[in-house]
Formats: sequence, structure tokens, C-alpha cells
Amino acid sequence: MGKDFDDLAAELQNQIYEETRAAYGEVAFQRWLKPLYMGKMDSPDGHARVTGSCGDTMEIFLKFEGGKVYEASFLTTGCGASAVCGSFAAELALGKTPEALFEITGETILDILGGLPDEERHCAVLAANTLRESCNDYMTRKGGDHANSGPVPDHDGQYAKGGGED
Ligand code: FES
Repeated sequence: MGKDFDDLAAELQNQIYEETRAAYGEVAFQRWLKPLYMGKMDSPDGHARVTGSCGDTMEIFLKFEGGKVYEASFLTTGCGASAVCGSFAAELALGKTPEALFEITGETILDILGGLPDEERHCAVLAANTLRESCNDYMTRKGGDHANSGPVPDHDGQYAKGGGED
């Protein structure tokens, strides 16, 4: 009886894994299984909390040394895709200057993942926006002249009028 239950549970889990892998692809699936860089950071140099139009909130924490990110982490209240995207946003931030961080967009993250289902593409935009805002926070605290530089796309990845998308 116990063995039957265990077998059924294992079968269900495998089915969920296979469906997730099929829907999101291998790269996202592996990161979904093991989301790296997840967690709160004490005393970050840059931090932002952004809520997307879906109502989910992401946070990104950054520490800089020598003008480059040496530690990054994220938290999300959102879906599995948001955890995957937040994880890659944190990973992409490592070793980057603020200028390079401002280059990271939702498309950058989607390219790494090989895309996401249409209804979850905005999760990548949320991650990129949160990363950008945490970098802005760092620049503002530092008193640099790059704070708020660069266009910030909205939750659907569109840029405000006057912003330069490239
Ligand atoms: Fe809200 Fe993914 S972050 S649905």
C-alpha cells in the first residue's frame, strides 16, 4: 500500500516535471528546480522592490566592489517563471558595471531562456526592471550622475515615449 502511494507520487512528480520542461525548455526547467541567488541580502549597496501589473513583487539586492557587482540576489512573490527570471537577472549582474547593468533588458533574459510562453514574458521584464531600479538605487546612494539613466520599459516591455529602445 505504502509502495503504491510512493509510486503514484513519483509518477505525478515526473509528470509535472515533464510538463514543466516541455512548456519552459531545459534551461528554465533546470533553474526552476534550483533557483540560484535567491534570498534577502543584508546591507546591500543597491536594492529595489518593484510590483508588476500582474500584482507580483520582485526585489533585487546588489553589492558593489571596485565599481562592479560582486554579490546579487533576488526575492519574488510571483510565479515560477519570475523566480527563474530573477535568478538569471542576479546572475547576469555579477561582475557588471552600472553602465552594463542598464543594458540588461527583459529580452536579454528571454534570449538566455530561449523564450517563455507569451503570458509569462512579462516576468522577464519585471526582473530586468527590478535590476535596473536596484542599480539606480546604488547610483543614487553613491551620488553618481548616472542615476535614472536609460529608458525604463513598462511591465509589458514597452518603453515610455521619448525613451530610446535599441
Ligand atoms: Fe507575475 Fe510571473 S511575475 S505572473
